[in-house]
Amino acid sequence: MSAKETPRLRLEGFVAGYFGQPVVRDVDLEVAAGGVVALLGANGAGKTTTLETIAGLHSPIAGAIEVDGEEISARPTYLLARAGISLVPESRALFGGLTVREHLRLAGSGDKALSESDLLELLPELEKCLTRKAGVLSGGEQQMLAVGRALVGRPRLLLVDEMSLGLAPIIVERLLPILRRVAEEMGTGVLFVEQHVPLALEVADHAYVLSHGRMVLEGNAAELRRQPELLRSSYLGDEVVDAGGNKPGPIGPGQGSQLGGEN
Ligand SMILES: Nc1ncnc2c1ncn2[C@@H]1O[C@H](COP(=O)(O)OP(=O)(O)O)[C@@H](O)[C@H]1O
Ligand SMILES: [Mg+2]
Repeated sequence: MSAKETPRLRLEGFVAGYFGQPVVRDVDLEVAAGGVVALLGANGAGKTTTLETIAGLHSPIAGAIEVDGEEISARPTYLLARAGISLVPESRALFGGLTVREHLRLAGSGDKALSESDLLELLPELEKCLTRKAGVLSGGEQQMLAVGRALVGRPRLLLVDEMSLGLAPIIVERLLPILRRVAEEMGTGVLFVEQHVPLALEVADHAYVLSHGRMVLEGNAAELRRQPELLRSSYLGDEVVDAGGNKPGPIGPGQGSQLGGEN
């Protein structure tokens, strides 16, 4: 046994993009089994590209993607899903005409699957919605279903893209801690993208900040929470300069990030 455990996810020299053009470059990143890692950065930094490439939706341009020490980058998405790599996409990708229970049943087969009652213990809000169609649920309920569906197969690695998009902060405060519970109770490695930075750093053990496709900051989440200025300046790398060469004011929700100024 090595002194250091094999990480659940390891990216090394990871380069991803579209049509051979890199959007994300030279990224090294690790997520431990049972660990919760936040991937932060302004709009367009390359967060979604990173998650989708890990999940097999795009081929990486270069570098290694290892899950439990095994290289996975040449595998098609359906095999990755079967191997326990689960993505909750920003779009949620639900079927409006199917009920909550139908979504969960479609996602879960085999003896490894979480039972409905186990899942409802993690996401009790879904109980009252089981027979309702996804299309009539609130945004928060839909997001819970999207997460629930990804959990049914007890993923080894859970990738979550901007879960809080369009949701009220009070719902986000309820949703994010579920990721922590999943990691602790199922040993899942969780990598999540989140624009509510202070909340993300409360839930994560570790965080990485992408700026223009490069990793500009990495650290223990509790330590980063104590350094909002460092975080802010790493985000400022993504600041937009308008046609007249003027920079807008400090980064705020309008630019897709909510850094907060407290603590
Ligand atoms: N399907 C695509 N084809 C070409 N370029 C894309 C595609 N999707 C995203 N991009 C580009 O990749 C960059 C990173 O986008 P993305 O990964 O969505 O960033 P983030 O999730 O951090 O906002 C952006 O410049 C975006 O325009
Ligand atoms: Mg994105």
